[in-house]
Amino acid sequence: MPICLADYTRTVSLVDQGYRSALVTGASSGLGRAFADALIAEGLTVWGTSRSPDRLQDRDRFIPAVLDLADARTIDRLWERVLTEGPGVDIVVGNAGYGVFGGFTDSSFDSWASQIEGMLIGTARLVHLAMPHLQAHTPSAVVILSSLACEFPLPFMSGYNAVKGGLSGFARGLMIESAETGPYIVDFRPGDFRTSFNRTMGISEFKPDRTNQITRVGKRLDSIMNAAPDPVRAAHDLVRALRRKRHAVVRTGSLFQAGLAPLFSRLVPENWLRAVSRRYFGIR
Ligand SMILES: NC(=O)c1ccc[n+]([C@@H]2O[C@H](COP(=O)([O-])OP(=O)(O)OC[C@H]3O[C@@H](n4cnc5c(N)ncnc54)[C@H](OP(=O)(O)O)[C@@H]3O)[C@@H](O)[C@H]2O)c1
Repeated sequence: MPICLADYTRTVSLVDQGYRSALVTGASSGLGRAFADALIAEGLTVWGTSRSPDRLQDRDRFIPAVLDLADARTIDRLWERVLTEGPGVDIVVGNAGYGVFGGFTDSSFDSWASQIEGMLIGTARLVHLAMPHLQAHTPSAVVILSSLACEFPLPFMSGYNAVKGGLSGFARGLMIESAETGPYIVDFRPGDFRTSFNRTMGISEFKPDRTNQITRVGKRLDSIMNAAPDPVRAAHDLVRALRRKRHAVVRTGSLFQAGLAPLFSRLVPENWLRAVSRRYFGIR
């Protein structure tokens, strides 16, 4: 029976394809942890980071490491360790991140700007350090954790939207720059996945506001998250994208968020989209 390409890509592991090791930032929970598990299951050795390494689970072929995106010295030290202590890495997954919930004018500007400094600049700093090493290895890949929020902005999360829009622009620019040299760049855009993201953001602790709009949106975000798919699905899509060995924009999540909504958004005018979005998030 002839073997079709889909069968081939399903059965050949990442190690069989020549990948040996990966670095996953923010591997202590949620998506990062699922990515680390999936890459280990593919036969790779995985460096996984947290701000507190005691949050990282001890397992075979897993190397725990410290990283705080808000502290550039930890990024430099991490990369120094990767170069000197292990086999190097040929996949970098820039996953670590968090959200800040609240009205733009209600929050301090410093807390707004620190999201850009940590998640956007910090991730770019790590990729900048890693790029020469990755270019010297084939195959190699950089995965940038953006979000569908770069296409469908989340209300009361303007800093987060800016970060994710910036990360996707960064990734897509690198795809053009790296056409000849590698590594493969993946602009990875999850919809909602059931993780501790909202809990860390403290959405449910939000005090009722004057119009109740923020609390209403917070409740809606929580109910969407509670019904969202398990991070294992995102990890499956990540491995599939890496197996394809090419630059890619990958949308992952529920059929509605990752399939129908992007399609719909290409067909309707921007003001319709805003109206639908307001309804979706319960803003009157
Ligand atoms: N869940 C979703 O629905 C969703 C959707 C789209 C995109 N994303 C993106 O996916 C990524 C992972 O989020 P998640 O949902 O898995 O959330 P999560 O369960 O809260 O995990 C966040 C991870 O990032 C790490 N982290 C947080 N702040 C950090 C910082 N300042 N420096 C270094 N590491 C930090 C955390 O590690 P420690 O706390 O142990 O340091 C943790 O491992 C984020 O970039 C997020 O924006 C998530």
